[in-house]
Amino acid sequence: MTVPLVIDTDTAQDDCVALLVGLLDPAADLRAITMVAGNVGFDQQVRNAFMTLNVAGASPVPVYLGSRRPLVRAWVSAENVHGDGSGGLDMDQAGREPEAEHAVDALVRLAAESPGELSIVAIGPLTNIAAAVIKDPDFAGNVKSLYIMGGSNNGRGNITAAAEFNFYVDPEAAKAVFGAGFEITVVPWDPLTLRRAVFGQERLDEIAALGTPLSRFFTRVCAATLEFDRKVGIDGTTHPDSLTAAVLLHPELVREASPYHVDVETAGELTRGYSAMSWGVHGLEPNARVIEDVDADGFYEYIRSLLARETTPEREITGL
Ligand code: RIB
Ligand code: CA
Repeated sequence: MTVPLVIDTDTAQDDCVALLVGLLDPAADLRAITMVAGNVGFDQQVRNAFMTLNVAGASPVPVYLGSRRPLVRAWVSAENVHGDGSGGLDMDQAGREPEAEHAVDALVRLAAESPGELSIVAIGPLTNIAAAVIKDPDFAGNVKSLYIMGGSNNGRGNITAAAEFNFYVDPEAAKAVFGAGFEITVVPWDPLTLRRAVFGQERLDEIAALGTPLSRFFTRVCAATLEFDRKVGIDGTTHPDSLTAAVLLHPELVREASPYHVDVETAGELTRGYSAMSWGVHGLEPNARVIEDVDADGFYEYIRSLLARETTPEREITGL
């Protein structure tokens, strides 16, 4: 039984790995990729997505362009973290065209066509998801489950001390999504990602030694972020996005999860995008399941096994 899903992404670094999960895992029925403003320049994110599709050698999955900026605020880049998001790789993109339909319309349509069946893996700012909620009051009810990479569970932020990047970029969208009635699972930055989804040098060497197009692609797209991570005290590459896709497809990776009430700060200056995750003793009705622990070794082995596959990229990727 495959899992019908859409990945909503600000395609850079680990977003690319999450797309590979959706493209290569036989458990995944990846119906669409929807693009949202986040990590790096929007058009560069689209190029990164098409390069990822190409290196996977997968059958084409439709790519839809969504919001090029947050709902209210100006876009905030993470190019200082990810560079161009694909390690300087390049590919002739002639003929690789996104769909004409806007991503928000596609999200609404795909969910309405399969009510209660489609899961969404949201691994960028939640602008498209919020816009779909605004456009179609039935959208949240039509979506089977919404897996969100974002926020921190009473822990550190990354773009600021208080906030994780996806929620920081579009806090209004995040607040709207958590209030919309989705069945939500959250993969937070801290503590979960920092404790269970960082690949240190030994594991990065193991992946590089695979010598496949996928492993070379992984090494390149993660290079800029690895350099940044080490500057900020993280000794390896971070994989919150691919973990989010992995736990949807393989719930056995989840070791601990609890119901929380999650809300997002939109009024604070120092606390913009802060994720208030209440663990049930503050009289707040839970609106999400927050993952608290996963099988870290199992997750790494899962990603490594995907990258070990021999694929035949249709087009040459310069630098790969
Ligand atoms: O804070 C982590 C999130 O922002 C991930 O989605 C990753 O893509 C980073 O840019
Ligand atoms: Ca992302």
